[in-house]
Amino acid sequence: MKFVVLNGSPKGNELSATMQFIYYLQKVVPGHDFEIFTVSKDIKRIENDHAYFNQILRSIRKCDAVLWSMPVFILLVPSQQKRFIELVFEKNKQKSFAGKYSTAFFTSAMVFDHTAHNYIHGISEDLGMKFIKGFSALTQALEKKECQDSVKNFFLHFIASVENREQIPKAYFPISWKPVPYKAPAMKKQKKKRDKKILLLTDHEPGSNLEQMVKTYQASSRYAAEVQNIRDLNIKGPCLDCLKCAFTGVCVYVDEMRAFYDEKILPADAIVFAGTLVDRYLSSTWKKFLDRSFFNGHRPILNGKYAAMLFSGPLRQIPNFLQAFESQFSYAQMEVVGSATDEEKTNTTTTGSIKHIAASIDRRLEIGGVRQQNFLARGTHLVLRDTIFRASPILNEDHRYFKKEGLYDFPQNWNRDKAMKMMLQAFMLFPFTREMIKRDILKFMVMPAQKAVEKARP
Ligand SMILES: Cc1cc2nc3c(=O)[nH]c(=O)nc-3n(C[C@H](O)[C@H](O)[C@H](O)COP(=O)(O)O)c2cc1C
Repeated sequence: MKFVVLNGSPKGNELSATMQFIYYLQKVVPGHDFEIFTVSKDIKRIENDHAYFNQILRSIRKCDAVLWSMPVFILLVPSQQKRFIELVFEKNKQKSFAGKYSTAFFTSAMVFDHTAHNYIHGISEDLGMKFIKGFSALTQALEKKECQDSVKNFFLHFIASVENREQIPKAYFPISWKPVPYKAPAMKKQKKKRDKKILLLTDHEPGSNLEQMVKTYQASSRYAAEVQNIRDLNIKGPCLDCLKCAFTGVCVYVDEMRAFYDEKILPADAIVFAGTLVDRYLSSTWKKFLDRSFFNGHRPILNGKYAAMLFSGPLRQIPNFLQAFESQFSYAQMEVVGSATDEEKTNTTTTGSIKHIAASIDRRLEIGGVRQQNFLARGTHLVLRDTIFRASPILNEDHRYFKKEGLYDFPQNWNRDKAMKMMLQAFMLFPFTREMIKRDILKFMVMPAQKAVEKARP
C-alpha cells in the first residue's frame, strides 16, 4: 500500500516526536511505501513553488491513503500546517484528496488534543476523504510497550479498512456559508471613557464584514477601544517549537511580538478578538499570532482580564472551534464574556449582537466580573500543573511562575482539604462515627453552603 505522510511538525522529520510513530510503523508493519512531505517546515517553499505544491498533490492522487502526522499546537495544528490546508482550498485542489482514506497521528501533552483531532477530521471530510478516527499519544509515549502495541494495532485496523474499501461514517456536515454583507450603522458619537483599556485585535481585510463589525464595536462601547490589526505587526515567522523560550521566557525571533505583549496586551483590561473564520478555524495569520504567544509558556498571565469575540463566518457550524478558542482564554483565567457573529439574517440583528457584547464588556469594566471555572479550564490546569512539575528543569519559566503564584495545588500539600481528609479518615476507623458519617453524609456535604446562605445579606 502507498501512504503519503503530511508531516505538520515545524521540526521536520528526525526531531519530530510524532514522526517517530510513523518510523516505528514502517518497521513493525513492513511492505508498504511511505512518501513523507514536511509541509510545516517547508511551508514557504510550498507557498511560492507551484511545481513543488503540485508534486505533493500528484503523490496524493496516486496514493492509497493520506496520513496526517502532527503536534497539537495551541489546541489545534501548527499555523504552518493550517496554511497548507488553506492553500489547498484557495487553489481549489480538493479533488486531489477526494475519495482517499485518511487518518491522523498526534502527539501532545494531551491538552485539547481532541479539538485538534476534530479539526483535522472535519477538514479531511471537507476535502472529500474517508477519515478514520486518529491516534493520540503523549510526546514520549512510544517508549512504552503498551503504546507500541496500540499504535501497531491501530495501523493494522486502518490498513484493513482501506484494503476492504469499507464505508466510513461521516462525522460532520459540510460547511455551508453565504455571508450577508454587513455595514456598520451610523451611530451618534459619544464621549469615550478612558479609565480602563480595551484592546481589539483583528485580522480584517479592507472592505470585509469584519472591518464593519469592528467599527460597530468601537462605536457601541462606552470606552475608547484601541484597534490593532495583527496583519500590520512585524511578526517574522511562525513558532518553530525550538523550546528555547521554555528555559528563558524569550523567543528566538527578534520582532514586535514581545513588545506588543508588554505594551498593549498586558496593560489591557479587556481584549476583543476579532477574526474571519477560514475553513474550520480562524486564519493562519491568527494561528501564527497565537502560536507565537507560546513564549509565555503555560503561565496564565492574562489572569483577570475580560475576553470577547467578534467572528465573521459560520461560527454555529463549528462548535469545535469555539470550544478550543475560548478554552485557551478561560485556562488563562480570563473571563470569556461571549461572541457575536455576522450569521444573523439582517444587519440590525448583527448590530444588536455586537452592541450586547460591547455592553457586556463595559459593564464588567464598571462593576466587576464573574469569576468561575468549568471542567475545560480546571482540567487543563491539572494536566499542565503535573506536566510542568515533571518537566520543571526544561519548563523552567513555567515552574518558577507556578511556584511563585501558588499554582502547584497538589492535594497532598498541607492545607484545609488535607486536614479535613485526615479527620474523616480518623472518623472512619470507629464503627460509631463511621455509621454516623454514612447516615449524615449528605447533610455534611451541604453544610458549608447552607452556612453561606444563612450569613447572606442584601
Ligand atoms: C506553540 C506550541 C503549542 C503547543 N500547544 C499544545 C497544546 O495545545 N496541547 C498540548 O497538549 N501540547 C501542546 N504543545 C506540545 C506539543 O504538542 C508536543 O510537544 C508534541 O509532542 C510535539 O510534536 P512534534 O515533535 O512531532 O512536533 C505545544 C507546543 C508548542 C511549541
